[in-house]
Amino acid sequence: MKSIIFVCLGNICRSPIAEGCAAQLIKENALDIQVSSAGTGSWHVGEAPCSNSVKVCKANSIDISMLRASQFTPKDIAEYDLVVALDESNMNDLKALGVKNLVKLGAYGYESQDVPDPYFFNGFDGFEKVFSMIEGCVKNLFDTEFKK
Ligand code: 4NP
Repeated sequence: MKSIIFVCLGNICRSPIAEGCAAQLIKENALDIQVSSAGTGSWHVGEAPCSNSVKVCKANSIDISMLRASQFTPKDIAEYDLVVALDESNMNDLKALGVKNLVKLGAYGYESQDVPDPYFFNGFDGFEKVFSMIEGCVKNLFDTEFKK
């Protein structure tokens, strides 16, 4: 079985959306892939995803309300075949921890852009933009990395 983990800063906004999109693809295509998500920071460990992330996923028929935030630590490195960073700063933090099998989600679409951090956005609009970026890139990533 292959395993993949999506990593952002807090693990309450962006990477739970990526985990939800990936879990949906795994279910729909009956893939033998394990998916998880984490944050490089520890501030939100144990918390549910932020309400706008839950809401935007729900609007797209994906339930992420049961997810709880965790922190990515060096002991996770050996656990995953692929570590996917949501932005360049996450990439740099993960490289500094010694992660080798590391890619940036934006490399699979949107001209390698960073997925912007919606934590400080006012309102829901930014979450819809972030959802469509993440959803498109996760689909492309699965097509590229996990083709049957
Ligand atoms: P995320 O968003 O990295 O997409 O989960 C953030 C959530 C919390 C914080 C930063 C980003 N924070 O600084 O607490």
